[in-house]
Amino acid sequence: MNGHQNSPGSKELSTSPDSALKTPPQLKPADGKLGILIPGMGAVTTTFIAGVEAIKRGISKPIGSVTQLATIRLGKRTDNNTPKIHDFVPLASLNDLEFGGWDIFEENCYDAAVQAGVLERPLLDQLRQPLEKIKPMPAVFDSEYVKRIHGPNLKPKASKMDHAEMLMEDIRQFRERSGASRLAMIWCGSTEVFHRPAAVHQTLKDFECGLQKNDPEISPSQIYAYAAIKSGVPYANGAPHLTVDAPALMEMARDRNVPIAGKDFKTGQTFMKTLIAPGLKSRMLGVSGWFSTNILGNRDGEVLDDPGSFKSKEESKLSALEMILQPELYPELYEHIYHKVRINYYPPRGDAKEGWDNIDIFGWLGYPMQIKIDFLCRDSILAAPLVLDLVLFMDLAQRAGMRGIQEWLSFYFKAPMTAQGLYPEHDIFIQLMKLKNTLRWMKGEQLITHLGLEYYD
Ligand SMILES: NC(=O)c1ccc[n+]([C@@H]2O[C@H](COP(=O)([O-])OP(=O)(O)OC[C@H]3O[C@@H](n4cnc5c(N)ncnc54)[C@H](O)[C@@H]3O)[C@@H](O)[C@H]2O)c1
Repeated sequence: MNGHQNSPGSKELSTSPDSALKTPPQLKPADGKLGILIPGMGAVTTTFIAGVEAIKRGISKPIGSVTQLATIRLGKRTDNNTPKIHDFVPLASLNDLEFGGWDIFEENCYDAAVQAGVLERPLLDQLRQPLEKIKPMPAVFDSEYVKRIHGPNLKPKASKMDHAEMLMEDIRQFRERSGASRLAMIWCGSTEVFHRPAAVHQTLKDFECGLQKNDPEISPSQIYAYAAIKSGVPYANGAPHLTVDAPALMEMARDRNVPIAGKDFKTGQTFMKTLIAPGLKSRMLGVSGWFSTNILGNRDGEVLDDPGSFKSKEESKLSALEMILQPELYPELYEHIYHKVRINYYPPRGDAKEGWDNIDIFGWLGYPMQIKIDFLCRDSILAAPLVLDLVLFMDLAQRAGMRGIQEWLSFYFKAPMTAQGLYPEHDIFIQLMKLKNTLRWMKGEQLITHLGLEYYD
């Protein structure tokens, strides 16, 4: 029903995991600066950059960031060897990050952060100098893809291929200006309207021909992704729309040894879902209904008020639950689940979203019970550390010689990308294990299976 099978003929699956496991990569050191390029410099981006600047100055702590705070166990539990992840693998230091990006609005990062209204003014004022220096480059934008907003900071009218060339020139100039030895790009722009992969997305040749001919199925985010991959820059997609999850761009990323990842940051309500649903399933408790509704009033909420953009978000939010519960394996528990997701634009709340979940569950002998969640969250506060971790890990992946889809970063996404024919793993605890085992593998350490029998022999 949802493709929970491997396809043996798939190109992505052609390397056996055993042969891959035998040869840990040669990790290149994180020498020099890492430039972070971000299409979309709104609430999430400014909260991320301001946060990094505050942490660098010792004003704040990197709460929520696995790369900065988490440890990783090595060897047996009795070995007591749990270094911090950033001491275990060579990650770029926060002091070596340089920021740049694009937006349809001209405001610098300080003004955009004030406008986003996520961080308090006294904090922003302490960071005014570094934030004011970051000014968005003119954007590649198409109002067919993002409908509710209009801004003046656009590239001149041109073909989609010309726009890709202009972005590549921006990337080249940013590299030179910032002195960065490596770059990573992460989409934090608005959610584009829902599109399925079309004929033009099937091969790189089709795609490049489509860029020349202005094919309407090629979105602005795909033009950024094309420019990034062609420039050898890893690309991650923080929004739910179609970008690098199209065969042409996946092929290009593999051929050019560029890591890609996506999609849609796993933050508020879906984060809660991926915590709770695996727990219910682990105890074989049934779910008959899951109703999720949100109010939010930031610009993201305004864009998502458009049905086309909402559809992108809805698809991404709906898929997680079905994949976790696997109704085809547990029909008596999940076959008849009614799952509904609503997002309501409600300006008074700004970025302080509220998400309600009503979960109808059933237990022993079918007796019904209910769970209610009221998550008063802050969207961009939850997303900012994910942006940091993703750019640092994407850069690490590139230095490890990893290319194409980075499934080990599924931990961060609502709709994780996988190889063709593979179903995505949505359970956040399995995702975390996968992430940490990938780091162990990179360093030639033993993987941890959690079997534990050796302690009882
Ligand atoms: N917790 C979260 O905040 C969260 C979780 C999951 C996904 N996301 C996604 O992250 C993205 C950013 O969220 P946000 O709250 O910062 O939104 P935002 O509206 O504050 O910022 C998005 C910015 O992108 C700009 N933009 C739109 N199209 C562009 C283009 N083609 N080129 C350059 N800039 C463009 C807009 O002008 C805007 O400033 C959204 O797509 C959102 O759905 C956010």
